Formats: sequence, structure tokens, C-alpha cells
Amino acid sequence: MENLEEKILQADSLEVLEKVRVELFGKKGVIAAQFAKMKEVPGPEKKAFAEGLNKSKAALQKSFDTRFEVLKAEEIERVLKSEEIDVSLYGSLAQKGALHPVMETMDKIIDYFVALNFAVESGPMVEDDFHNFEALNLPKYHPARDMQDTFYFNDGGLLRTHTSPVQIRTMLETKPPIRMIAPGTVFRRDFDVTHTPMFHQVEGLVVDAKGKVSFANLKAILTDFLQYMFGEVEVRFRPSFFPFTEPSAEVDISCIFCEGEGCRICSHTGWLEVLGCGIVDPNVFKSVGYEDVSGYAFGLGVERFAMLMHKIPDLRSLFEGDIRLLEQFR
Ligand code: DAH
Repeated sequence: MENLEEKILQADSLEVLEKVRVELFGKKGVIAAQFAKMKEVPGPEKKAFAEGLNKSKAALQKSFDTRFEVLKAEEIERVLKSEEIDVSLYGSLAQKGALHPVMETMDKIIDYFVALNFAVESGPMVEDDFHNFEALNLPKYHPARDMQDTFYFNDGGLLRTHTSPVQIRTMLETKPPIRMIAPGTVFRRDFDVTHTPMFHQVEGLVVDAKGKVSFANLKAILTDFLQYMFGEVEVRFRPSFFPFTEPSAEVDISCIFCEGEGCRICSHTGWLEVLGCGIVDPNVFKSVGYEDVSGYAFGLGVERFAMLMHKIPDLRSLFEGDIRLLEQFR
């Protein structure tokens, strides 16, 4: 049985060892064959024969078990080596995305008004004359309707020049009281450092029973809103004109670049204009069939807010898609 032992010791892998196992210990293996010879052994010698066989079998089994452990350990070692992870190697860094500064600013604005229970409304970008102009008390001869500002389609449709038509659509669809904002994309024929043909606005409208909505309410909410957006700034209301509000005001904040000292960006006035607002003109209510109501409205340009908040000098750079600019806002 010595060469059998040799076979076990020479097995250099688990597969080979398995073959050896079948060859030796299997049903038709060498050992089984030896036991089969028992029949031919004469009676008195049977005992000694069996003892000898069992001894040899036990010895072989022991060698086998030892060899198995060795080969198994080697196998584990090899697998561990091949699957080893070098934690000092550089990984591939996942690029983290971020919101575009205009959308981030939009979200911040929306968050403020949603917290005050304003509904978020929307309307179509392709508008008609009635919603974009007529119902907003913009008479036919008003300069805002000039071909220079508005993109018209041949069929008389147009790209909305502001989000104010959403005021009209919402009032036509619902009954007062109304408390809404309308964030959205708007279009004008304009292109320079502070204007792009496509930009974003947020419109606001509050309507309630006559006498319930005042200019003081408007002033309070917008002052708080602007301080939420820009921090510790002064806010002032300047008389102005919009066809859809009367009285109307433009709202300025103290210049965030020079803190009111006067610089190039605020044209040495110490103030930056940030939005338009006013008390809803009775003609607007008339055009949607509202009676005995009062209301205020406001509208602002989101890009202008983003430019001021991030101190971006050229508006056009926001829409060039240059990844180097966008990466600064991650
Ligand atoms: N629609 C105006 C614009 O595009 C902004 C605006 C001003 C909206 C005053 C208003 C408002 O609702 O009351 O310039």
C-alpha cells in the first residue's frame, strides 16, 4: 500500500486529490477490492487480515485528510491573493452633479412663498395676445407690445414675455381668495450683458375681499422676502408704473457689493433694483370678471437674483453650458 500513500502525497491540487480519493476509497476502489478478498482468506487468518486492512485504511485516510487540509489551505491562499484589493490605488472619482444656479435660485424663491402657503401655478410658454397683454391692461399701443420685445408667430400667437399671464389664467379658473406664485420661462428679443432672449421670472399674486389686501401687506412680505434672499439689506420702494398695477413700485435693495457706498455695479447710487410690484389695477379684475376684491402682485427676474447672489458679471455665461462655470456652483 506504500505507492498508494505516494499517490496521495503527490496530488498537487484538490481535483487530482479527488480522483485519488475515488481510486482508493471509492466503491470500486483499491481498498474495497482488498476487502473483497476476505472471502478467499482461510478462517483462522481472517481476523489478522482484516485488522491489517483496517490499519492500512486508517493510515491512508489520515494521509488523505492531511493532504486535503494542505491543498485546501493553498487554494484559499490563492483565491485571497487573486482577489486582493489594493486600498492605496486611486479610485475613479464619481462626478457629483448640482443644480444650475438659476434653478437653485428659483427653488430658494419658491421655498419662501410655499412656506407662506402660496400655491405654485403654471401656464403655457406659447401665449396669446389676450393673456399676455390685453387682460393685463396693456393697451394696443403700449411699447411692450412692440416687435422689438416680443417673439410673434405668424398666427398671432407669441412667446410669453412675462409670467403675468398666469395671473389671468389662474383668476379665470378659480374664485378668490388667491395666493399664488408662478415661476416660469419667458422670452424677449434682447441680448446683452444683462439680457438673454430666454430667462426666468417668478410672478406673485394675492387676491382677497375688498379692503383685505393692502400696500402695507405687500411691503411687509417683500421686505422680508428680500432679506431672506440677500441677508441684511435695506429695502426701498420707489414709485413706478406697470399697466397691471396701480399704484406701482419698483423695489431696490441696498447694494450688496459696496453696502450702499456707491460702486460701478449700482451705478454709484448705492441701490440695486430687484423687482416690480403694485396693487392690482381694477381693469385687470374687470377683464377676469372679479368684483369687490383687492389684491397685490409682483414679478421678478430669477437670473438677476442669481447674478447678484453669486456675483456673476455676465448673464450670458449662465447659458453657455461651460462646465468650468457650472463646476463653481457644485
Ligand atoms: N411683468 C413685469 C415684467 O415682466 C414684472 C411685474 C411687475 C409683474 C409688477 C407684476 C407686477 O406682477 O405687479 O417686467
